[in-house]
Amino acid sequence: MRPLYFENGVLKLIDQTKLPNETIWHEYRSYEQVAAAIKDMIVRGAPAIGVTAAYGMVIGINVINTGDKDEFFEKLEHIASVMKNTRPTAVNLFWAVDRIVRKAQENKDRSIDEIKEEILREAKRMDQEDVESNRRIGEFGNRLINPKDTILTHCNAGSLATCDYGTALGVIRAAHEAGKEIRVFADETRPYLQGARLTAYELMQDGIPVTLICDNMAGYFMRKGEINCCIVGADRIASNGDTANKIGTYTIAVLAKENNIPFYVAAPVSTIDFGIKTGEEIIIEERNHREVTHIGDIQLAPKGVDVRNPAFDVTPNRYITAIITERGILYPPFEESIKSLARTANPR
Ligand code: MRU
Repeated sequence: MRPLYFENGVLKLIDQTKLPNETIWHEYRSYEQVAAAIKDMIVRGAPAIGVTAAYGMVIGINVINTGDKDEFFEKLEHIASVMKNTRPTAVNLFWAVDRIVRKAQENKDRSIDEIKEEILREAKRMDQEDVESNRRIGEFGNRLINPKDTILTHCNAGSLATCDYGTALGVIRAAHEAGKEIRVFADETRPYLQGARLTAYELMQDGIPVTLICDNMAGYFMRKGEINCCIVGADRIASNGDTANKIGTYTIAVLAKENNIPFYVAAPVSTIDFGIKTGEEIIIEERNHREVTHIGDIQLAPKGVDVRNPAFDVTPNRYITAIITERGILYPPFEESIKSLARTANPR
């Protein structure tokens, strides 16, 4: 279940604000429209917004109509800054845009048409690499799953959040494909309900047993011994393993430690920000208050109430049992395991 396709210069995105009740695909023909789609969460999930931004760059760069290289690169930088100015927390977005800019610069001595072709190839490569990474994350992660485990997940780190297969849900898919009789508890994930709307939908489509719970029920089920492990995705992982993910992840990690339940993060290496030391440096997006006061068009809270709406939180590394990447499973101390990964990972 891919959330995006790029065909004949047009980007198609499934509208994730409408799932699961309506399956609507939109077509994007300008980079401004693509940036708006990321901002409005038509497409969401760290790896998916990274690849979407890369295709947005392709669309924008394709219509730069000049024979002048300086002007071409000036316009390219402008498109990159528009893409980066959409959502601040997921590092994959910045990683993908920088990779496109770098590819253009590496080819700066070639013709503008050739640079455009190289950029398209690079975006397609990222798309393909993402799916391959998720499959490998699934293979590694499956080793940590016992037959008959009940796994708690938060938000949606599935096919819809990536180019296919998913990270946290990739591990769950791999365990299911391996014949392990697993069951998933999906947190609803207020306020945007990625768990209720997207994770429950994806897992049901694949025939993986899933039980939907409200976010505040996780502790109850952990204490009753009904949850064997937690697996979540990530939006940005600092060099020490501190992990930004959907708001509420930190709460689950603390509850998991209290109940001696392993807490796993599944993410591609492109989600590791080798440039920051700790999670303190991660910018947390604050979104529209309406997401908290309303469900759909229905207002639940009194008009004019004061609201906060941080979209992500940071889980300190001490709560994380392991980080599952496509390059292998990282264990604490993460400062060390991430440093040795950085030596070979070609970080930004
Ligand atoms: O606000 P969202 O829906 O983009 O947040 C998504 C998450 O927090 C995911 O868990 C994360 O991006 C990992 S997706 C493989």
